[in-house]
Amino acid sequence: MRDFVVKDITLAKEGRNRIEWARRQMPVLQLLRARYKAEEPLAGVKITACLHVTVETANLILTLRDGGAQIALTGSNPLSTQDDVAAALAADGVHVYAFRGENEQEYYACLDDALAHGPEIILDDGADTIARVHERAITGIIGACEETTTGVIRLRALSAAGKLKFPVIAVNDAETKMMFDNRYGTGQSTLHGIMNATNFLFAGKTVVVVGYGWCGRGVAMRARGLGSKVVVVEANPRKALEAHMDGYYVLPMKEAAKVGDLFITVTGDISAIRREHFELMKDGALIANAGHFNVEIDIPDLEALAVARNEAKAEVMEYLMEDGRRLYLLAEGRLVNLAAAFGHPPEVMDMSFANQALCVRYIVEQQGQLRNEVYTVPKELDEQVARLKLDALGIEVEELTAEQRKYLSSWDLGT
Ligand SMILES: NC(=O)c1ccc[n+]([C@@H]2O[C@H](COP(=O)([O-])OP(=O)(O)OC[C@H]3O[C@@H](n4cnc5c(N)ncnc54)[C@H](O)[C@@H]3O)[C@@H](O)[C@H]2O)c1
Repeated sequence: MRDFVVKDITLAKEGRNRIEWARRQMPVLQLLRARYKAEEPLAGVKITACLHVTVETANLILTLRDGGAQIALTGSNPLSTQDDVAAALAADGVHVYAFRGENEQEYYACLDDALAHGPEIILDDGADTIARVHERAITGIIGACEETTTGVIRLRALSAAGKLKFPVIAVNDAETKMMFDNRYGTGQSTLHGIMNATNFLFAGKTVVVVGYGWCGRGVAMRARGLGSKVVVVEANPRKALEAHMDGYYVLPMKEAAKVGDLFITVTGDISAIRREHFELMKDGALIANAGHFNVEIDIPDLEALAVARNEAKAEVMEYLMEDGRRLYLLAEGRLVNLAAAFGHPPEVMDMSFANQALCVRYIVEQQGQLRNEVYTVPKELDEQVARLKLDALGIEVEELTAEQRKYLSSWDLGT
């Protein structure tokens, strides 16, 4: 087993500085870190984490380590690893297996290295690690946490098939995760990634947001804020109606394809944009993805249609169509916010990773009590994260009186 695999260990100092910068903006995680250091609730627990290797993740890893855990970390996407962060963690003794630009074989080799540490708990982002554990029939795992919507969908399918081998907590589904990380985090960082890669002017442009879930809402809101005309493409009737009443144009993809200057997929689905849509797009259209996997834009279709391709600039691939139109794919169709920018700001990851830290402890404390199912984050933990965040922000909530609490839980008081 390799001790660590990173691109360049000499980047450690830069990584440490950036991790420290993020730490100061993650007050809830800081508080949990101090508590975990004092109580060591994870003493001796082996964890394999497959997460985007960013400054925020580093702070989660250090929190768990201060709580007594032994950790192996691998990247959850070939283009999202921040090499300086990987170097800093490796230099501080964490077993890190991740570098930016891994090919598929390298990605799985890193994942296997991280699994070779014999984890009892898995932290996953996209469910590749948990899928691997099931394929390889690896034993000894007492539970896992899943960070993102796509991973939760995969794991619910595994559970529905009766094949899930240990309990999983859907951290993604905590209100203090998806309402903030998916919406405000993805909303802001996706636009940041697109601007970084292209210097695109949003004002006056038509931006097509494909998928109006938590991430899509955030992306649409921020694009409108920058002066774009926003078109939403959505398959779910309730959410399409919501997008309409939120003031967006709602169109099917085959109509939206004709009008968009920029397309952003956030569906968690395959081939949301495909051949029949590329054929209709305007010359110069930009196409980006912020969903978890690089399957939302059908890249094989784009490749098949193109008569030539050329790297216009870093993170921007130009595809020349037979009729002379040029379409531009950003960041190889991988999550543009992590591939072309920093990912979510630490302030939102503070809540997501506070949930992770609390759920890891919960799994340890509940060992043997949980069934092999996908659980939501216990409400008390979700609420605890919200309260700690509000405390850190200096915001007070209204306290209900005893009379109000009674009224809100009774049926007999009416007209
Ligand atoms: N980039 C990031 O940092 C980041 C952060 C959080 C989540 N994610 C990922 O983003 C994706 C979306 O997450 P979410 O939390 O918004 O999910 P969600 O389930 O809340 O929303 C997805 C929406 O897409 C719609 N949809 C599905 N297929 C479609 C299609 N072909 N055409 C149009 N609409 C379609 C669904 O009806 C749904 O409303 C997931 O893959 C998730 O893992 C990425």
